[in-house]
Amino acid sequence: MTIIIISVLLLASLLPHLTFTDHVNVGIVNGRKTTPHSRPYMVSIQKRGEHFCGGFLISDQYVLTAAHCWTGLEFLTVVVGADDLRESKSSDHIRVESSIPHPDYNTSTEENDIMLLKLEKKVRMKKEVGLISIPKKEVEIKAGTLCAVAGWGLLKPDGKEISNELMEADTTVLSQAECKKKWGSHYIGQQMICVYGKGGTCKGDSGGPLICGGTAVGITSFGDHHCNSPDGPNVYTKISAYINWINNVIGNVK
Ligand SMILES: *[C@@H]1O[C@H](CO)[C@@H](O)[C@H](O)[C@H]1NC(C)=O
Repeated sequence: MTIIIISVLLLASLLPHLTFTDHVNVGIVNGRKTTPHSRPYMVSIQKRGEHFCGGFLISDQYVLTAAHCWTGLEFLTVVVGADDLRESKSSDHIRVESSIPHPDYNTSTEENDIMLLKLEKKVRMKKEVGLISIPKKEVEIKAGTLCAVAGWGLLKPDGKEISNELMEADTTVLSQAECKKKWGSHYIGQQMICVYGKGGTCKGDSGGPLICGGTAVGITSFGDHHCNSPDGPNVYTKISAYINWINNVIGNVK
């Protein structure tokens, strides 16, 4: 009994360190470069000019990301219209007016790891800047569904280098039973989706989307330090469980 309690406590205390955020200039392991501007909804969330989390545009003034990307009152900007973060021709830096993490976000269990960023001004849509749709009602993404992930995070689990270029990888949704088997009580089926693929998300990819059939269904939340491991498949916040919260915050998601 004691052993079980200790191991559960240990796991719980380790969890925050397993989330894919980092306060260094830190995509995707085993991925490929995206076709330029093929994912115009992707934004880089930055602090003092340094990328630390991903996010995606769901309306002309709101970005959806992970609550563990919350930085308190620190001044943030998002970069829209960028593929290569060093390239500024098509990109625009926009200030974040307010960060709205889910009120029930739990830093020790990573439950409700979802946050909206309200931008200081509306983003003008163009070829390089666009929206991605989110589910309109609660949906179960079937095991075996082929999806994609994207971000500017680490290219290798032990890496330190930022990926200046936006990377993507294909990944497959696992069954609730498999996710539960690997993550135990940390995996909450009603709120989470877990995936495993050839490539996967790593540090710096947090907050980015899990895209299935052109719709953002998940938000990069946590995984293990291998970044894409069959024993610790990456876990995403299930967006469709939060439609009411999102609609209440935004008013009406376009
Ligand atoms: C977070 O979850 C743990 C485990 O369920 C619980 O004990 C704790 O009270 C929660 N914290 C908050 C702030 O809700």
